[in-house]
Amino acid sequence: MARLPIYNCYHPVMKKKTEDVTEIDDSIKKLVEDMFETMYKADGIGLAANQVGISKSLLIVDTSISSEENYRHPPIVLINPEIEEESDEEVEMNEGCLSIPKFNDKVWRPDVIQVKYYDLNGNQQTLEAGNLLSRVIQHEIDHLDGILFFERLTSIRKTLAKSKLKKIEKGLTLPEYPMVLPDGTLTGSNK
Ligand code: NI
Repeated sequence: MARLPIYNCYHPVMKKKTEDVTEIDDSIKKLVEDMFETMYKADGIGLAANQVGISKSLLIVDTSISSEENYRHPPIVLINPEIEEESDEEVEMNEGCLSIPKFNDKVWRPDVIQVKYYDLNGNQQTLEAGNLLSRVIQHEIDHLDGILFFERLTSIRKTLAKSKLKKIEKGLTLPEYPMVLPDGTLTGSNK
């Protein structure tokens, strides 16, 4: 396994819609292993492939560290995920993102979703998700579509976030883990 640098949210790869995975070969399996190592070393609970610079429709989630029992879910890989249904009821929850260092804010999203995806064996699966699992999957599917969570903030929150986001865009706010900045520069050691 290898740890990969995480791409800053203002890097062009993060704004581009990802391509569907057409074959689950060894390179995809290796990518998934590397993504898990990368996510765990950065203390994340979800990661989309374009966050490590690979523009493919694939994400990983692990909410097993949640202190609340019904928020917990063991590690899961979702390939070409699609939300089939979502509840009318929306809930507000605090979100952060490994591509947006040292920034978090509250976002409204549907509470419960039903998502269709392929697993690593190429079998189609359907999952109903609520709570934190639903939240992380929706956040990561947004990444695969080139959408960042701060785009979903209310307009007042967007205004308040502006200067913090500017610093992140300029590479003045850095995470503890290796990051590829918007201009392609790699920062941080890959230990
Ligand atoms: Ni994110």
